[in-house]
Amino acid sequence: MTAAGKPALIRDPAADDEADWRRLWAGYLAFYGEDLPEAVTAATWRRILDPASPVFARFAACDGTLVGMTVNVLHEGTWTVAPVCYLEDLFVAPEARGAGIGRALIADLVDLGTMRGWSRLYWHTKLGNAEARRLYERFVAADDFCRYRLVL
Ligand SMILES: CC(C)(COP(=O)(O)OP(=O)(O)OC[C@H]1O[C@@H](n2cnc3c(N)ncnc32)[C@H](O)[C@@H]1OP(=O)(O)O)[C@@H](O)C(=O)NCCC(=O)NCCS
Repeated sequence: MTAAGKPALIRDPAADDEADWRRLWAGYLAFYGEDLPEAVTAATWRRILDPASPVFARFAACDGTLVGMTVNVLHEGTWTVAPVCYLEDLFVAPEARGAGIGRALIADLVDLGTMRGWSRLYWHTKLGNAEARRLYERFVAADDFCRYRLVL
């Protein structure tokens, strides 16, 4: 449901979603204070549409407008034979928040993964992102790993 009480549809991306997706993507980057080069955004969009790429997205749409997205990477692992899904980016448009769309987007990945035989779905966020963490804790408690990230 959106804040206006309308149901949001969770679906695969289509080529003509690009402008709408770029609006969400820009909001997401702004949330993180990030300013990625255009070449990176263009490559991400190409990968989202490329069925051979391990990157894939799911969109929440309401009245034909995108109101939320997940962008994910399906990868192999060493501790499991079945694929592992990394939920890299989750964003709901500010005007659509607090109406269950974030929850529906994660539930959608849980359903997809169950149907397709993935072994795990994982994600991380900043310790201080209380809104996101409240949502995440509805699915699973955070573990006690911390992240090391060396930029090359
Ligand atoms: C985090 C985010 C995706 C949540 O999306 P959302 O559609 O608002 O989330 P939902 O409406 O599904 O909320 C689900 C739960 O989160 C909590 N929550 C979310 N937004 C809230 C708000 N503004 N105030 C209070 N609680 C909130 C609630 O506990 C709610 O659970 P409940 O209804 O059972 O109490 C959204 O706020 C967002 O895009 N934030 C900016 C980007 C970001 O932080 N991304 C995730 C980190 S990578």
